[in-house]
Amino acid sequence: MADPVIIGSERSEAGLPAGMEVLRRGGSALDAVEAAMRRCEDNPADHYVGTAGLPNAQGVVELDASLMLGSGRQFGAVAALKGYPNPISVARAVLERLPQHSLLVGEGAALFAEECGFTTADLLTDASREQWRKQVTDSKEAVEGENTAATDGDQRYRESALSLIRRLAPHDGPWGTINIIALDATGEMCVGVSTSGYPYKYPGRVGDSALPGAGNWCDLRAGGAACTGRGELSMRGGTARTIVDLIAGGQDPAEACRAALADAATLPDEFRSELRALALTPDGRHGGAAGQEGSVYVLMTEASTEPESRPRVVL
Ligand code: GLY
Repeated sequence: MADPVIIGSERSEAGLPAGMEVLRRGGSALDAVEAAMRRCEDNPADHYVGTAGLPNAQGVVELDASLMLGSGRQFGAVAALKGYPNPISVARAVLERLPQHSLLVGEGAALFAEECGFTTADLLTDASREQWRKQVTDSKEAVEGENTAATDGDQRYRESALSLIRRLAPHDGPWGTINIIALDATGEMCVGVSTSGYPYKYPGRVGDSALPGAGNWCDLRAGGAACTGRGELSMRGGTARTIVDLIAGGQDPAEACRAALADAATLPDEFRSELRALALTPDGRHGGAAGQEGSVYVLMTEASTEPESRPRVVL
């Protein structure tokens, strides 16, 4: 059996040490992913997940999150959830306490969170409100990936969002996602994904982070995979599931991620922007891919004292 390991996308560094601490104590992959993701969701400096996530076109923060287990492919998710700072924990409650369902959205997801006793919070911080206001002006900055250049698709998306915002007359007041995958000492795997989705998205828009096969897939026979970036592309590409299928067919994790992203890149898309992926196998191999140079993923083993960066292969 492989040693425990936890990997994550850019900005998961805020949570991976907590996840590895769970794994070191012999805890489950599910506990590790939840613990790690909650730290990320609670990080006020991160404007792509949880508290301080960037809002929709009406200035309201709506969160998507999911968890998938490798052994039985159990899946729990929430989408367009308002007012609850840790959607990953509500997704876990769907998985464990509502096994007759896999995905709750909007008001139903909030009702379930309330029934489960989760605490509400105001998710739009002063900093995220200010960033939202700044970003709705024309900008050449990238939306996803703080250190990458905006693509034409990013720019078209921004222009379209501005027009949408004007049309929806928002009240007063870089999309991104975090992926975390863990392998525990018993050999179980869990994939977690959490996001505030596209800034300025149409209210009610659900991305790939809440959808099995698109942004999240875990199958202990081959591995787990997750995506960040333009969710509409990974939905159409079935990208996370494609990666795991390619691993099952013999490809290594990095090459499987690259091939699945290459497939998604063939799809026509007026709003094209980058998609990234990462994957982990039950024997502890891992890899990632991205559309641009300089992208990394991070990992911790039991020997790690802090998260270590690894380069993603480039399309
Ligand atoms: N990948 C996150 C989203 O599209 O919302």
